[in-house]
Amino acid sequence: MDHVRVGLVGLGTVGTGVYKMLQENKDIITKKVGKEIRVEKILVRNKDKERDPEIPSELITFDPGDILENDDIDIVIEVMGSVELAMDYIKRALSAKKQVITANKDLIALHEEELSELAHLNGRDLYFEASVAGGIPIIGTLKEDLAGNKIRKIMGIINGTTNYILTKMTKEGKSYEEVLKDAVALGYAESDPTADVEGLDAARKIAILGTIAFDTKITFNDVYVEGITKITKDDIKYADELGYIVKLLGIGMNVDDKAEARVHPVFISKDHPLAAVNDVFNAIFVEGNAVGETMFYGRGAGELPTASAVIGDLMKATRDFINDTMGSSYRKIVKRKEIKDISEVDTAFYTRMKVKDIPGVFAKIATVFGDHGVSIALVRQQYRDDSGVAEIVLVTHKVQEKNVRDSLAAIEKLDVVEKVTSVIRVEEGKR
Ligand SMILES: NC(=O)c1ccc[n+]([C@@H]2O[C@H](COP(=O)([O-])OP(=O)(O)OC[C@H]3O[C@@H](n4cnc5c(N)ncnc54)[C@H](OP(=O)(O)O)[C@@H]3O)[C@@H](O)[C@H]2O)c1
Repeated sequence: MDHVRVGLVGLGTVGTGVYKMLQENKDIITKKVGKEIRVEKILVRNKDKERDPEIPSELITFDPGDILENDDIDIVIEVMGSVELAMDYIKRALSAKKQVITANKDLIALHEEELSELAHLNGRDLYFEASVAGGIPIIGTLKEDLAGNKIRKIMGIINGTTNYILTKMTKEGKSYEEVLKDAVALGYAESDPTADVEGLDAARKIAILGTIAFDTKITFNDVYVEGITKITKDDIKYADELGYIVKLLGIGMNVDDKAEARVHPVFISKDHPLAAVNDVFNAIFVEGNAVGETMFYGRGAGELPTASAVIGDLMKATRDFINDTMGSSYRKIVKRKEIKDISEVDTAFYTRMKVKDIPGVFAKIATVFGDHGVSIALVRQQYRDDSGVAEIVLVTHKVQEKNVRDSLAAIEKLDVVEKVTSVIRVEEGKR
C-alpha cells in the first residue's frame, strides 16, 4: 500500500482541524513519515448538518462499522467525545488491530489503563497527547523526554476558560459573574460552564498527567477539586496587595512514595513563571530531579492547536505501523502510589474573616491557630466600617491542611468572629 489509511471518528472542532492540517501540511508530513496519510472515512452523527465544502462528501459515513471494523482502515482517530460510546468505539478499533489516537480527556482520565492494556494485548498503541493542554506537547515529553527523571511536582494552568476569567477579573477589577457573562458571549466559555469553572476539566487533565509523571494510576475520581466560582473581587484585590495572583491550578506532587492530585484556586507569587500566563493560554510547570524546573506554554484548545497534537500522535502511530513496530508505547504501572487525602496535604493558606471591631480579637484568633500548630506569616486588619465590623486578612505558613480546617472551624465559633469569608491555598515562596 502506498499510503496509510485513516478513519476519523468525529468532524467537529478538532476533527475538522485534523483534516485541514493533514491537507495543508501534507508535504512535510509525508516526507517525515515516509508515506502519505490519507483520511478514507469520517464518522459523524447529524445527517442534516452542513459540512465544510473542503471535506469531500463521499468520505462521510454514519455507520461506525465503516471505520471500526473496516479492513481498509489502519489507524482510527477518535475526536467525537463522550465516555461510554467512545470507550466502545476505541475498544472495537483496538480489537480490530488498529492504531488509535484520541483527544478525549473525559475518557482517558477514567479508563486509560484499561484501554492501554487492550492496545498492548492487540500489539497496538493508544495515543492521547491532545487530551491535555491542546497544542502543548506535555504527554510525550513526560513519557519520553523526561522519563529518566523522578518528577516531584507538576503544576499547571490547564483550563483556558478559567484562566481567561481570572485574568479579566484581575486586570479589569470585574466580578466573577460579570466576566463569566462576557466570556459566554465571546465564546470563551460554554453556555453551561460547569466543567470548566468547577475545576472538573482541569481535574481530568491533572489525573492524566499525574498518572504518567508519577508512574502510578490516578483517575479523575482521585482528584480533589475546587473551582473558581467563590473567588471574589476582594480576594483578587488582596492577592494583588500581598504580592500574589489568583490562578486555578492543577497540582500533582510525588513525595515519599505518596502522590497528591488536586485542582483549586491558588494565590501564586507574582514572580512565579505561571503568574505571567494570561487569558486562554495554558502552561505546565514540571520539576524533575535531574532537569530541575521546566515550563511548557501554549494554547490549550482550539481547532489547529489541538489538531497539532493529534497529528503528532498520528505520525508516531504511522511510523510504527509502517515499520511494524506497533505496541511499543505500552508502559506497565509497576507500583501504585497511595493518593493523599486533601486533609493530609501541606500547604499555606490565605484567609479572610469578618470580626467584631473590638480590642483583643486578633489575640483570640491567633490563640486558636497556635493551639492547632498553625503559625501566621502575615496579618492585616482592614476596612473598618460604621457597623462595628472589621476584616482580618491573614496568610499562614505551610502546614497540614487539616490543622487549618480545624482552626477555622473553631475560629468561626468564637463570639468575636462573624464569618470566615474566604479560604484559598497559597504557593509559598518564589517557586
Ligand atoms: N475543542 C477543543 O479545543 C478540544 C481540545 C482538546 C480536546 N478536545 C476533545 O476532542 C474531542 C472532540 O471535541 P470537539 O470540540 O471537536 O467536539 P465537537 O465540535 O462537538 O465535535 C464532535 C464531533 O463528533 C461527532 N459525534 C458526536 N457524537 C457522535 C456519535 N454518537 N456518532 C458519530 N459521531 C458523533 C459530531 O458529529 P456531527 O458533526 O454530526 O454533530 C461532531 O462531528 C472531545 O473529546 C474533546 O474533549 C477538544
